[in-house]
Amino acid sequence: MIQKILICFENCIILTKAIQKIGVTAMDEVDMELEKAFQSKIDAELKIEPKDWMPDAYRKTLVRQMSQHAHSEVVGMLPEGNWLTRAPSLKRKAILMAKIQDEGGHGLYLYSAAETLGVSRDEMYEQLHSGKAKYSSIFNYPTLNWADIGAIGWLVDGAAITNQIALCRCSYGPYARAMVKVCKEESFHQRQGYEIMMNMSNGTKEQKEMAQDAINRWWWPALMMFGPHDKNSDHTSQSMTWKIKRTSNDELRQRFVDATVPQADYLGLTVPDDKLAWNEETQSYDWGEIDWDEFRNVVAGNGLCNRERLQTRRDAHDGGKWVRDAALAYAEKQKKRMADKAA
Ligand code: 3HC
Repeated sequence: MIQKILICFENCIILTKAIQKIGVTAMDEVDMELEKAFQSKIDAELKIEPKDWMPDAYRKTLVRQMSQHAHSEVVGMLPEGNWLTRAPSLKRKAILMAKIQDEGGHGLYLYSAAETLGVSRDEMYEQLHSGKAKYSSIFNYPTLNWADIGAIGWLVDGAAITNQIALCRCSYGPYARAMVKVCKEESFHQRQGYEIMMNMSNGTKEQKEMAQDAINRWWWPALMMFGPHDKNSDHTSQSMTWKIKRTSNDELRQRFVDATVPQADYLGLTVPDDKLAWNEETQSYDWGEIDWDEFRNVVAGNGLCNRERLQTRRDAHDGGKWVRDAALAYAEKQKKRMADKAA
C-alpha cells in the first residue's frame, strides 16, 4: 500500500512540474506577445489608456511617478503659503493666492490621473504621510523673505515647466493630458515669479541684495529637481523605452540652465556657479557640479524643512477629516434619497 501511495505522490509531483512547465511556457508566450504588442503601440506614438493592457512594471512606475508628482504639488503649496499673509500688496497677495490654489488643483488633478491606474487616494495619502513616498526635494527649503517667492516662481516653476512640457508627450494618456492644463498654469507661475525678481532687482539696493541672496539659495536646489545624473538614475532608461520620459534628466536640466542664465543676466543677478561659462562649440552653458550629498541628504528626509512639511500635511489631513466625513454622509443621503425616489 505504502508503495502505491509513494508512486502516486511521485506522479503528482511530475504532473505538477509538467503542468507548470507547459503552463509557464504558455503563459510566458502570452505575456511576451502582449508586451510586444504594448511596446509597438508605444513605438507608434499611440497613447496607453486606463483600460488597455499594460505590463505591471509600467503601471507601477506610473503610480510611483504620478503620485510623487501630485505629492510635490500639494507639499509645494506650503513654502509659498507661508508668505500669503505677508505679501507686500493686495495685488501680490491675490496673485500668490491664485498660484497656490493652482498648485492644489494640480495635485488633485494628478491624484485623479494616478487613480486611473488602480491606486486609491487614501493609499497615496498614506504613502506621503508615512514618509514612504517622495516629493520633490526643493520643497524642503525654507522661504526666508519675499524674494524667495519670486525665486520659487521663476526657478522652481521654471524647472517644473521644463520637465512638464516633456511630460505632455508621455505615453500614458491621462498623465499627458493632465500636463497640458498644468503647463498652461505653470507659465503664469513662472512669469509672476520673474516679475517679482525684476521689481526687486530694479528696486532699492537692499531689494537687489535680497534677490541675489534668493538666487544664491535656490539655484542649485532647483537643478536638483531634475533628478540624479542619467548614469545614476534608476528609472530613466526604462522610462525612456516606455516613453514616460521623453527627455533625460541631464538633457532637461541643461535645457533649463540654457534658458535661465540669460534671464538672470537680464536681471543683473549672478548665478552662484563660478564654473558657469558659455560654450561656443556646444552652443550651451558649461557649469559646475551639483552637491549630490546635499541632494541625497534632503531626499532622505534630513532637509531643513522635511519634518515640518510632512507634519503640516498630516495635520491638514487629520484636520480635514470632518469635511470628508460630512461629504461622504451627504453622498450617502443623496444616494438613499435617489433610491427611495426610484422605488
Ligand atoms: N526630489 C526627490 N526625489 C527625487 C528627486 C527630487 N528632486 N529627483 C529624483 N528623485 C528620486 C526619484 O523619485 C527616484 O526615487 P524612487 O524610485 O523612490 O521614486 C530616485 O530619485 C531616482 O531618480 P530617477 O531620475 O531614476 O527617477 P525618475 O525617473 O522618476 O525621475 C523625476 C525623477 C525627473 C522627478 C521624475 O520622477 C519626474 O519627471 N516626475 C514628474 C515631475 C515632478 O514630479 N516634478 C517635481 C516637482 S513638481 C513642481 O515643482 C510643481 C510646481 O508647480 C511647483
